Amino acid sequence: MAIAEDLEIARYLKDQPKKLFIGGRWVEAASGKTFDSINPATGEILAKVAEGDREDVDRAVKAARASFEAGVWKDLPPSERAKMLWKVGDLIEERVLEFAQLDSLDNGKPINEALLFDAPIAAATFRYYAGWVTKLQGETHQLSFPGRYLSYTLREPVGVVGAIVPWNFPLMMASWKVAPALACGNSMILKPAEETPLSALLLAEIIQEAEIPAGVFNVVPGFGETAGARLAEHPDVDKIAFTGSTEVGKKIVQASTGNLKRVSLELGGKSPNIVFADANLQSAASGAFMGIFVNQGEVCTAGSRLFVEEQVYEQTLEELTKTAADIQLGPGIDFMTQMGPLVSQAQLDRVMGYITVGNEEGARLVTGGTRADGDLANGYFVKPTIFADVKGTMRIAQEEIFGPVLAAIPFASEEELVAKANESMYGLAAGVWTQDVKRAHRVAHALRAGTVWVNCYNVADPANPWGGYKQSGWGRELGPYALELYTELKNVILDIS
Ligand code: NAI
Ligand code: MG
Repeated sequence: MAIAEDLEIARYLKDQPKKLFIGGRWVEAASGKTFDSINPATGEILAKVAEGDREDVDRAVKAARASFEAGVWKDLPPSERAKMLWKVGDLIEERVLEFAQLDSLDNGKPINEALLFDAPIAAATFRYYAGWVTKLQGETHQLSFPGRYLSYTLREPVGVVGAIVPWNFPLMMASWKVAPALACGNSMILKPAEETPLSALLLAEIIQEAEIPAGVFNVVPGFGETAGARLAEHPDVDKIAFTGSTEVGKKIVQASTGNLKRVSLELGGKSPNIVFADANLQSAASGAFMGIFVNQGEVCTAGSRLFVEEQVYEQTLEELTKTAADIQLGPGIDFMTQMGPLVSQAQLDRVMGYITVGNEEGARLVTGGTRADGDLANGYFVKPTIFADVKGTMRIAQEEIFGPVLAAIPFASEEELVAKANESMYGLAAGVWTQDVKRAHRVAHALRAGTVWVNCYNVADPANPWGGYKQSGWGRELGPYALELYTELKNVILDIS
């Protein structure tokens, strides 16, 4: 295992196999089995991890339920809970380098990006929701019903929450669910993705250090079809929060019907990034570039359909192609790296499959389209890839690829553009590049998407809602909106006549 000894995270990685975190204790899987987490830059084993399955999920749900019923968390004074969640943010910040190294090694992403986005945003999310703990409140109502009444609402935790997260932003995706769920007083079980289980376990260490009571937060790494599926169907789980593929999102909905648990879903996307001829073309080109190639394109909001107004189409393509050809591919853990490997062999196969499809469909390949060779041949590297002259009906314009593959499409007018941009089963996000303020708002209103960025892209802040229209999901995470996902509303009515 070739992990440099001088990395801050080396000591943490030495202690293996990593265990499950249930009821405040580190335990082996009931089956005694472990699975391998792979370093995608080399294909080597990064860590052995206890493989949670049905029995382990059941144990974790039991621990969460017991802590919930005992009130060890939900009944603490809000300021106490706020203090502990703020502490979690502090501790993530203290160990930011370790978290960034861990997600970089486990997922493949450039360490610079993990240091800029993943770990700091996770810390900020805990602080943001620490602020909400003391501000959860109800309302009173003026009734016309005969008599005199006091009618008010209470916001109460939903109970036991199951969070199932993907591998593209392991710590950040976990924090987007854990912080609001805990802020609302719930007890919970986190199931990280099998590709990237490590930072969730380090987060459990921190949550323990912040003195959040045993049983309130549990982590059960394991596979989707086993551990994930059990969590989704479990009769004693009150709510599932899921981020991942639309395909699995539908399975979660089906699994939830047994006890009609609450479900929120943040699913796939095929987001349009739109460049009008009047845009600042320099900014638009770099925004289009970042929109698709940041995090290797493994981003739910990736601007994977690039619409460019005809007059500036070739010029924008040229600019993008030049930058793409220059990008430094390499292991994420290397500070010189600008783009890392894809997360797994499976994701590599999927992305290479779509590149074949794009070629067969007759799109014009202008750069990339192959794996990296030489020193990088053992890792799951794909060169930044741009297809031009893509038609909206092509599979590479319709299906989520989740890799560094851009589909560029020219358009002639604003009207034509809006119709084309909305031609998708997804509706997660969109980008608009223009200097015309009226057009910016007009197009932003016309797009069927949960987020529209104007002259920027991928600005993700815990204060903003996050989620999509159509098959991009149900509900909105982050902001005050997430408080709705993790609470039940109770109405109390008193006769005061
Ligand atoms: P996935 O949807 O299978 O995995 C996401 C999470 O769901 C993981 O924790 C996994 O263990 C869990 N899971 C899988 N099957 C489950 C089941 N039956 N019940 C409960 N949990 C289950 O995504 P996968 O297979 O890793 O990637 C395939 C494609 O999904 C990607 O190429 C991409 O298009 C999309 N995807 C989208 C993400 C997003 O952020 N919207 C994140 C990850 C993948
Ligand atoms: Mg899967």
